[in-house]
Amino acid sequence: MRLYINVDHVATIREARGTDEPDPVRAAVLVELAGADGITVHLREDRRHIQDRDVKLLMRTARTVVNLEMATAPDIVDLACGLRPHQVTLVPERREEVTTEGGLDLSRAEVRQTIGATTRTLQSAGIRVSLFIDPDTAALEESKDLGVEAVELHTGEYANADFAERPYELDRLVRAGELGRELGLDIHAGHGLTYENVSPVAAIPTIEELNIGHSIVSRAVLVGMERAVREMKDLLRIARSQDTTEGNPT
Ligand code: PXP
Repeated sequence: MRLYINVDHVATIREARGTDEPDPVRAAVLVELAGADGITVHLREDRRHIQDRDVKLLMRTARTVVNLEMATAPDIVDLACGLRPHQVTLVPERREEVTTEGGLDLSRAEVRQTIGATTRTLQSAGIRVSLFIDPDTAALEESKDLGVEAVELHTGEYANADFAERPYELDRLVRAGELGRELGLDIHAGHGLTYENVSPVAAIPTIEELNIGHSIVSRAVLVGMERAVREMKDLLRIARSQDTTEGNPT
């Protein structure tokens, strides 16, 4: 189980003042020293947190791997092809949203066409492509047809579910993971995962990579980045060594 940490919200604090601190690239160094397996950043079209400079610098300084989340804006696709991160995760993006609100809507032909063309461009630059999708059969099958290496299952509905709905949402993730593996896709997951809700997801054996941001950066503000990362890594390790689907080990 790989833990990739999304450092966007370090940049959110910087942008609140428009200065040069805190620097998400420095945060990435601490995150790596604490044991993260990769760094995730979302270069949004409106550049509300991560800036082009951050991605460029991160590509030169990261000791692990960079997972670049992005939509299909041509200038960002060009930037990605020039920088060649280990992985691009394609996400839907709406300017008015506070955060990514759901997976790609691959039921729409125009979305499939754009995602397919962007995927081919990125892959021909040697970049591995993952699609952020809802944990549904149709989205998995469309992803397979688009020829991507991986999918990231959107865990937002699981994270937002109340106590009664959570087993249903967890089961959706379990079944999506199984189908994805049968289709030959690597399975990632993320969005809305916290110290409180991560363990049952981390226990799903088909999931190889988690992308977690807001909860870890929030905890880091109080206890420091290295401790925040180590605590999350510990939870993942415990989840993988025992079945936690029936309870909350925290
Ligand atoms: N995965 C994707 C595709 C995302 O867009 C985000 C948020 O940028 C995350 C994971 C991380 O979500 P969170 O900050 O809620 O942990």
